[in-house]
Amino acid sequence: MARDWVQFIRGGRVVRLRAFQPRGTLLDWLRLEERSTGTKEACAEGDCGACTVVLARRRDGRLVYEPVNACIALVGQIDGAELITVEDLAGGGPLHPVQQALAERHGSQCGFCTPGIVMSLFAHYHRPDRTGDRATVADVLAGNLCRCTGYRPIVDAALESCAGDAADRFAQDAPRRLAALAELDDGADVRVGDDASFFAAPASEAALAALLAAHPDATIVAGATDVGLWITKKLAPLAKIVHVGRVAGLDAVEDRADALVLGAALPLARAAPLLARLDPDIGELMRRFGSEQVRTSGTVGGNIANGSPIGDLAPVMIALGATVELRRGDTVRTLPVEDFFIAYGKQDRAPDEFVRRLIVPKPQPATRLRVVKISKRMDEDISAVMGAFALTLDGDRIAEARIAFGGMAGVPKRAAAVEAALVGARLADPAVWRTAAARIAEDFTPLTDQRGSAAYRSQVATNLVVKVLAEIAGVPADVTRVRPREERARVAS
Ligand SMILES: Cc1cc2nc3c(=O)[nH]c(=O)nc-3n(C[C@H](O)[C@H](O)[C@H](O)COP(=O)(O)OP(=O)(O)OC[C@H]3O[C@@H](n4cnc5c(N)ncnc54)[C@H](O)[C@@H]3O)c2cc1C
Ligand code: FES
Ligand code: FES
Repeated sequence: MARDWVQFIRGGRVVRLRAFQPRGTLLDWLRLEERSTGTKEACAEGDCGACTVVLARRRDGRLVYEPVNACIALVGQIDGAELITVEDLAGGGPLHPVQQALAERHGSQCGFCTPGIVMSLFAHYHRPDRTGDRATVADVLAGNLCRCTGYRPIVDAALESCAGDAADRFAQDAPRRLAALAELDDGADVRVGDDASFFAAPASEAALAALLAAHPDATIVAGATDVGLWITKKLAPLAKIVHVGRVAGLDAVEDRADALVLGAALPLARAAPLLARLDPDIGELMRRFGSEQVRTSGTVGGNIANGSPIGDLAPVMIALGATVELRRGDTVRTLPVEDFFIAYGKQDRAPDEFVRRLIVPKPQPATRLRVVKISKRMDEDISAVMGAFALTLDGDRIAEARIAFGGMAGVPKRAAAVEAALVGARLADPAVWRTAAARIAEDFTPLTDQRGSAAYRSQVATNLVVKVLAEIAGVPADVTRVRPREERARVAS
């Protein structure tokens, strides 16, 4: 079954788009086509949250409300969802509880950020497992920048309005809306446009493989949290878009005894709790990965396939010895994640090949894992340096070392000389920590850019080796960390 339109629900009605720019953003559609200008544009790169809208989707038989940055989402991506914007909340009646609380608590001054903040809190209001503490609300709002009000009254308003069960008109109307979404879920291959320019969203892996074989020059899009910026910042003239978000099973998870298998199209927000179970440091990394909006759209596959030298998952995957599965036509192959990255901007992937799954081995009991992200800002910032360490112990000796860094080379890369200095060494010997750390200079010649100078990066990576070895050797985490691992694990669980 195939259709030549994209469909979604808006204000209780089904919208069908039969002609649109494949690279057109959801924000442009809202503001320029529908003329709903309540949703604002500021940074146009996913950072500030002024453009936050909510997509309601049907998942496992229930409604989920997900905040999305409309400025970098493509309009075609919302096929099958209900689009909710700030104009919809009051629905001609009284203000929504989050709006009312923001007004009463003085949570808005110039008001430019306010529609985005309202929508992030609206999504939070509808989260059944939400906890009512300031730290959680701070995470919920990490992707919403307010320059003039200050966050205290905003957080107060969030805590007040999001206590208790959701009881707004959306909650009351949930069964009808769920049924309407079920009707849109037709499993059809979508293609809007012609052979020269199209937006396509295949529904199966076979259809995806066939489409890429016919159009190897097409751009694969998953969450568009990278690709969206090519459009808004580089003005990339992308004519053929193949969206993988509707491919059945491409977001599947398999929790095996020995490994976690993550479908490439699995959004980061859904991968986060699974990855957090592997180690509290990975949980903290995922908490700091972009923002709620970025994690809702962005995918694990996109974070590897983009080939970024500063992507956060790659060093973790390399340290854990993960493999990536790729499919081209009917042929499936796997390779270690570390071999996927060939050189800056060059990955071991044919143009008509797609990333299918990541197979992530679970750490063994004798393995000590540590993951440290260094960025200029604690929340919603890309790494300057990112280190992932997996040391397998045999008594007090290091039997195996897998250490990978991001931000230190043109690709995420193992620290082979550091590893060699550690294998066979006694962990409790501080001289070993320093000797091994000094070998960072043999492994990496980092670049200077806006995130850090070469000298800074080398020094940071050297320090991280010492810090991690000290921790694993037993130096208390309240000496080495601002917030100990154990505390993070408690918060995550
Ligand atoms: C505000 C903001 C904050 C961010 N913060 C972080 C951060 O903290 N850490 C971090 O690592 N990144 C961060 N990112 C970058 C981005 O969110 C991640 O890299 C994300 O994982 C990309 O996933 P995506 O699904 O959105 O990829 P897309 O943008 O859809 O695609 C990215 C690339 O992967 C390719 N691709 C996607 N899926 C496949 C597939 N299945 N097979 C083959 N190719 C594929 C695309 O063609 C494209 O080249 C941030 C981005 C923004 C806008
Ligand atoms: S306009 Fe800033 S995140 Fe979209
Ligand atoms: S109220 Fe002015 S930016 Fe938030």
